[in-house]
Amino acid sequence: MEFSREELIKSVSQQMPAMRWQHTQGVMETAVKLAERYGADPVKAEKAAILHDVAKYWPVKQMEAVIRENDLSKDLLFYDKPLWHAEVGAFVAKRDYGVEDPEILDAIKYHTSGRIGMTLMDKVVCLADYIEPGRDFPGVNNIRELANHSLEAGLVAGFDSTITLLVSRRQIIYPLTVFARNDLIKQLEANS
Ligand SMILES: [Fe+2]
Ligand SMILES: [Fe+2]
Repeated sequence: MEFSREELIKSVSQQMPAMRWQHTQGVMETAVKLAERYGADPVKAEKAAILHDVAKYWPVKQMEAVIRENDLSKDLLFYDKPLWHAEVGAFVAKRDYGVEDPEILDAIKYHTSGRIGMTLMDKVVCLADYIEPGRDFPGVNNIRELANHSLEAGLVAGFDSTITLLVSRRQIIYPLTVFARNDLIKQLEANS
């Protein structure tokens, strides 16, 4: 069963605290703008944005069960729990909300980590998540500025801020994020 935009918004917003829903609304608005600016489908970008954090407030045990019992990356379990909601969210979008479009599902799945060969839709949603108006972290204005000119440059700066923060806290880094960053830098070099 496919959900209408309104049904989707109603159902997803009920699954998170008001603050996180406000963030999601910021991501929706920003993803639509970036999609229009860079030639992605704004309707799909908004749908991915509505759903991107759907599993963010799931209990860890419940996320772990979904990862173990289904075809999700088992290596996630070795890495930080904040990563899990992205892949679990894509699973939920398909199972509970009837989303079949791989462009939308992948954008949800990779919105936190990135990946090698990020699609235009992956880039739009991931970058919107970094720069939506409610975000406030060191360097966010620089990322917003870069995003006006290049999705890839904005994302590299975003991943740099994440990686730098993890290093400063001596936390482990999900390798896919490093691969994603390297790949984006190669793309920027190829286009310069
Ligand atoms: Fe997220
Ligand atoms: Fe988010």
